[in-house]
Amino acid sequence: MKKLLALMALFVMAAATLHAANKPGTFTVGDKTFLLNGKPFIVKAAEVHYPRIPKPYWEHRIKMCKALGMNAVCIYIFWNIHEQREGQFDFTGQNDVAEFCRLAQKNGMYVIVRPGPYVCAEWEMGGLPWWLLKKKNIRLRERDPYFMERVKIFEQKVGEQLAPLTIQRGGPIIMVQVENEYGSYGEDKPYVSEIRDCLREIYRPTPQPLPVREGSDYTQGSELSTPLPRREGPGEGLLLFQCDWSSNFEKNGLDDLTWTMNFGTGANIDQQFRRLGELRPNAPKMCSEFWSGWFDKWGARHETRPAKDMVEGMDEMLSKGISFSLYMTHGGTSFGHWAGANSPGFAPDVTSYDYDAPINEYGQATPKFWELRKMMEKYNDGKKMPAVPKAPMPIITVPKFELKEFAPFMAAMTKPVNGAPKTFEEMDMGWGTMMYSTRLPEIASQSVLTGEFHDFAQVFIDKKYIGKIDRVKNEKSLTIPAVKKGAELIIIVEGMGRINFGRAIKDFKGIVGNVTLTTETDNIEMTLTPKQWQNVAIPDDYETATKALDMVKGVNDQVAAGKVKGSVPALAFTQGYEGSKKLADIMKPGYHRGYFTLKKVGDTFLNFETWGKGQVYVNGHAMGRIWSIGPQQTLYVPGCWLKKGRNEIIVLDVVGPKQPVVWGQDKPELNKLQLEKSNKHNNIGDKPDLNSATPVATGAFKAGNGWQTIKIDGQKKGRYLAIECLSTQKDGDRVAIAELYLQGVDGKRLSREPWVAKYANSEEENGNHTLDKVFDLQESTYWQTEKSAQAPHLMVVDLGQEHTVTALEYLPRAEQGAPGSVKNFRIYLLK
Ligand code: GLA
Ligand code: CA
Repeated sequence: MKKLLALMALFVMAAATLHAANKPGTFTVGDKTFLLNGKPFIVKAAEVHYPRIPKPYWEHRIKMCKALGMNAVCIYIFWNIHEQREGQFDFTGQNDVAEFCRLAQKNGMYVIVRPGPYVCAEWEMGGLPWWLLKKKNIRLRERDPYFMERVKIFEQKVGEQLAPLTIQRGGPIIMVQVENEYGSYGEDKPYVSEIRDCLREIYRPTPQPLPVREGSDYTQGSELSTPLPRREGPGEGLLLFQCDWSSNFEKNGLDDLTWTMNFGTGANIDQQFRRLGELRPNAPKMCSEFWSGWFDKWGARHETRPAKDMVEGMDEMLSKGISFSLYMTHGGTSFGHWAGANSPGFAPDVTSYDYDAPINEYGQATPKFWELRKMMEKYNDGKKMPAVPKAPMPIITVPKFELKEFAPFMAAMTKPVNGAPKTFEEMDMGWGTMMYSTRLPEIASQSVLTGEFHDFAQVFIDKKYIGKIDRVKNEKSLTIPAVKKGAELIIIVEGMGRINFGRAIKDFKGIVGNVTLTTETDNIEMTLTPKQWQNVAIPDDYETATKALDMVKGVNDQVAAGKVKGSVPALAFTQGYEGSKKLADIMKPGYHRGYFTLKKVGDTFLNFETWGKGQVYVNGHAMGRIWSIGPQQTLYVPGCWLKKGRNEIIVLDVVGPKQPVVWGQDKPELNKLQLEKSNKHNNIGDKPDLNSATPVATGAFKAGNGWQTIKIDGQKKGRYLAIECLSTQKDGDRVAIAELYLQGVDGKRLSREPWVAKYANSEEENGNHTLDKVFDLQESTYWQTEKSAQAPHLMVVDLGQEHTVTALEYLPRAEQGAPGSVKNFRIYLLK
């Protein structure tokens, strides 16, 4: 009770303080425009994410956005950083989002808040907390009672931080978003409506007393229990809005919410707003995410988008009175384990969220920045542009040094749990690695080990490394040699970020389901399913790392003192562990610690290209993931987390380094791939022979932007979709396709979850325009053939299993005139 009153008092006080400093105002919808305090207003928002910027740099980055001529910042609220354990909320320090908003206001910037609950954002599980998955059957982003209960509690907590900061109460917040791009997930207006109602209640214009709980001693008639009058006439409350693609909008658009669109640079802007104009001719226009660049995933080239397209697009929007948020204006870094992953398939994102944005990952102006600033000046009401602030820290380099201490992975083992293989979630672990071990019966010939390994599995038999099963490559099995009775099978599974997009966000980690071994003797196939496993969790956190290193401290100390000869890893194993000599092969995964000394602090980029795969901690701060395959080879280490004198670094390498050395450079390396093979799908053995095949449809697509559907007569069946692109709308153009769907017998789209790119005669790999882009659920990405390649072009997708198909849906590029769009085609369904 006391608590409640104290909270109420705080609430009222906070509001009062703000009122004193900043006058309450309104932000509403007028005729074809937004109205700020009743006057037409164009939102020029800069998307930035507070957890992706070290708190000491927040204000600098806000000032940088302002120097671009922006008048607002747009932020997501990341549920999973605020409630890392169910019911334990944290809005302090780096998580103090209210402070971020106040800093924006201090610098004369408005704030758009996008509190989810789901945010996508290339962020672990799209912002949802992993512990929701402890309820195995939970329906995420639906009206599942438990999900909705947790959402409402979380939003209420966010409201306690942010509701006092709305414009109606003198704060900077002008708009709040309801859910995020729901159309890429489903069609569910009742769910979206419930999120709307929840937010509407929390961000009501007048402070409301908290609801009276049954059984509380909160007496009726007391001062605070009398509800304050509700002032919710049209336009009086906080403006709630939705954002999605133009092609998705009608699915979930609610009549009483403002509609805004997401699309990338280069897009045909009139086309994007066409449908909205038809349906709601008087609505204001806003591009809620104008993608300045794009995110990077492990194993593919660094993404860039031309400055010219971005600047021209924004110029066009401003000249037409269209509001926007530039996503990202400054991307920053997905520190620690917060980077997410995309689907279909499994495509984890790198640590850097540079995004090829105008303000780069480390807060500096890029050439894009200057071009944009110049254009934005035209729309600055004749006023001088705000000054570009000085960087808070210099950039420094660090000479190469060795990480001399080592602790094997096993030193971090927690208590084993016996039984069937368990997921991280079943072990109550959010992030990290698990070690699974079991004893095998005799298997006289080689066998195939199969399972769902999320995400990167390494298989050992009797301590000998056999191979890896990499989910990124869609791998699910590995051939293992014949084994003797009692052989020990160990599988180490490292989890990467949970999927943040599409239906696959329900992404359990570790071994999901059973592991089987299939073998064939005398034409008889046998499948073994080991049932008794030892499940060991190794959480990804700094405490676990230091505990492991402290456990083998004796060995490290002796080596440091030159008392023992030999490498630390080898010694670590011969000291504390039974049968340790045999561990020679799995000793490599483990923790490496080293130190570097600084005379002067500054931002730097630590290089990890000699390392395998894992996580890095600097002075206890989780810096992010590393992986030798690239394209990212350096991690941004902000100077505000470094100190004069000795700095500590720990690298958890689940594979093992080639050399345990690190150095700090003055520039990031975001585009160096070290792949086993290229990402092209041009293996000639995968090319189907179409000579004897009959097309299920032939014809010509229409010119121009937007979706087209081609009917396939006679309900044709097949496992492989092959499309021959015979010509393009513009002669001599290279071919580009943004998205493809197939419809099944019920006329509904087939799930593309199991789809795999099989063959393309040509792909522009450098710009990441590979074939998989035709089913990556992103309308702004596309497959494109190389300049030199001649039509006809052929692409083949494996649908995973045979399907009956009734139609093909095709989307050309979103840019004006749909460049590269196909004209004549032949479609095949192959067995
Ligand atoms: C969508 C989402 C964002 C982000 C971008 C891609 O627009 O709403 O959160 O994932 O895609 O960067
Ligand atoms: Ca695409």
